[in-house]
Amino acid sequence: MAGHDLSSDGNGNGTLKFTQDWFSHNIPTWTKLLSSLRGKRSVHALEIGVFEGRSTCWLLENVLTGDGATVDCIDTFAGAMEHDKLDLSSLQACFESNVAAWRDRVNVHVGMSAAILPTLSGPYDLLYIDGSHTARDVLVDIVLAWRLAADDAILIFDDYAWPMYPDQPWFQPKLAVDSFLACFAGWYEVLHVGYQVAIRKSAQFSSPANAAKKTLATSASGREVCAFSSFGGQEITYKIEIPQKREFR
Ligand SMILES: C[S@@+](CC[C@H](N)C(=O)[O-])C[C@H]1O[C@@H](n2cnc3c(N)ncnc32)[C@H](O)[C@@H]1O
Repeated sequence: MAGHDLSSDGNGNGTLKFTQDWFSHNIPTWTKLLSSLRGKRSVHALEIGVFEGRSTCWLLENVLTGDGATVDCIDTFAGAMEHDKLDLSSLQACFESNVAAWRDRVNVHVGMSAAILPTLSGPYDLLYIDGSHTARDVLVDIVLAWRLAADDAILIFDDYAWPMYPDQPWFQPKLAVDSFLACFAGWYEVLHVGYQVAIRKSAQFSSPANAAKKTLATSASGREVCAFSSFGGQEITYKIEIPQKREFR
């Protein structure tokens, strides 16, 4: 796989090799979202879809730094339909090489997420869903991952505002994320809605009855999303503008 060296691994062990960057734009948000987990002992993370390990390495370097912290990584290392132009023949080797400096904290599960998730027991404090992007697969990933999430775990769903396949919502994560959020309303707090969506799993159900109509209602323009959180009995409404067009990275 042709590539270029982009950063140090933070441990003085040379450089990491990536050919794609689908992650760096999330760093400011992740830094804030995950500040409570940073350096904590025995934090367990789950990542569905790791590719070359860019998000994994960032987590290992910046969040999973406490004693006993681990990350379980699931990937087929075969790419997805949007990767059909990429040479992925050495994808797994590239991932392994990038995480080598932290190998004792990384568990790699090679295969389809829908097959692997039921074999895991968790509980995880942080779950990042970034595998297949079809709505059907994303919905299955989120529901199976939810079962593995600890109370108060943070779940991050990538590519909520993915611009690919604009006329085929069944090929986009958004349909799955909205469906999940509607069905599980009352069981989570919305932490962030933007290009990604982040939620915190609630320890207790808090009735969303009054706010149900507002849950992720999309405006007529299709660009404004309204989400609500009913965490701890407090209802908070978030309104965000989704950029009309976003470069596919
Ligand atoms: C967008 S990439 C992940 C990018 C990575 N999180 C990052 O930030 O660099 C999606 C990954 O999901 C994997 N994938 C796609 N469908 C999958 C499935 N059903 N099960 C497991 N992995 C899958 C692909 O092989 C690919 O490596």
